[in-house]
Amino acid sequence: MPVLERIAELAEDITRYRRDFHEHPELGMEETRTSGIVAELLNEWGIQVHTGIGKTGVVGVLEGNGPGRTIGLRADMDALPIQEQTNLPFASTNPGVMHACGHDAHTAMLLGAARYLSETRQFSGKAVFIFQPAEEGLGGARAMLADALFDRFPCDEIYGMHNYPNGQPQKVGVKPGEAMAGADFFDITIKASGSHAAMPHQSVDPIVIAASLVQQLQTIVSRNTPPTSPLVLSVTQIHSGAAYNVIPGVCELSGTMRYFDTQLANTVRQRMKDLCEGMAKGYGIDIDLNIREVFDVLVNDETLSQVLLDTASEVVGKDNISITPDVVTGSEDFADMLRVIPGAYCTVGHEGTIPLHNEGFILDESILPVGASIYAKLIEQRTGV
Ligand code: NI
Repeated sequence: MPVLERIAELAEDITRYRRDFHEHPELGMEETRTSGIVAELLNEWGIQVHTGIGKTGVVGVLEGNGPGRTIGLRADMDALPIQEQTNLPFASTNPGVMHACGHDAHTAMLLGAARYLSETRQFSGKAVFIFQPAEEGLGGARAMLADALFDRFPCDEIYGMHNYPNGQPQKVGVKPGEAMAGADFFDITIKASGSHAAMPHQSVDPIVIAASLVQQLQTIVSRNTPPTSPLVLSVTQIHSGAAYNVIPGVCELSGTMRYFDTQLANTVRQRMKDLCEGMAKGYGIDIDLNIREVFDVLVNDETLSQVLLDTASEVVGKDNISITPDVVTGSEDFADMLRVIPGAYCTVGHEGTIPLHNEGFILDESILPVGASIYAKLIEQRTGV
């Protein structure tokens, strides 16, 4: 089954929006150009526009042709600190910043749906278009929620989607229930004392302590969490030292935890604290541990997961929808919105095979009218229920 006919006609424009965003990517909370264009277009199409929600977030509200329910659709707008290496004619002109996660496409798809719905208005109730900043770990969803997003624009249901470069065009997947991991970021500062490298007995060497601490942190998942409960703890940065002959005074470690069980996550946080404190005591130094809870576990409403799949099947066909069998240890801050309003989040496969967040990532633009059609149909079908 095809994309909506009018959206197929708009595909060229939707592609143009996407390429423009791609050429001018902006990092989280700095999406002033992108959100400016979004607001301008929504306004042009007669959609009520609200800006500055969660700093650079934009919300568009479109009334249907009668009373009904309110459905929210969300797209993210931010890019990543990556130097693009695709050689595309519309490659990033912003050095060191790239739409390597396809949020340019998500924004363009939601714009396509908004334009179509503003023209056709074949729905009752209300559509709320949520253009979110800073999905990539900078708390855009929480910033919008802190600005009373759903108090100002109450929704009965919300939906979101992400492109998926799995080489399987138009395959739409949803994982009902717990779907994506909650995530913490952490920083550890080992405050020891340095010396001449030739006289190590005059130091308390933070590098030796760091090496040992990394090993100890590894025992948390292997020895303190049940093997049947997925949890990841990765140290991803170690920074210390600047010379061959100096034992430095400080070593900094950073990393991330991914979890599905919040109680288990608390156990892990406590173990991290205990291990740091133990090391600090053992060596007579200070070790600071700072853990930030950045993403909630993403939980798709079971019933609305099926609604999303059924709606998608009208666009991509029954053979192209499926229930995703496994949880993903990646994270997504739409989770924070799903904590407040029930809804579901899907992946839309495409021909690309270079992974997300890679400097060579290329999005298959044929998914633009597909995503826009799924969004539009959700409004047409769910506002009147
Ligand atoms: Ni993304």
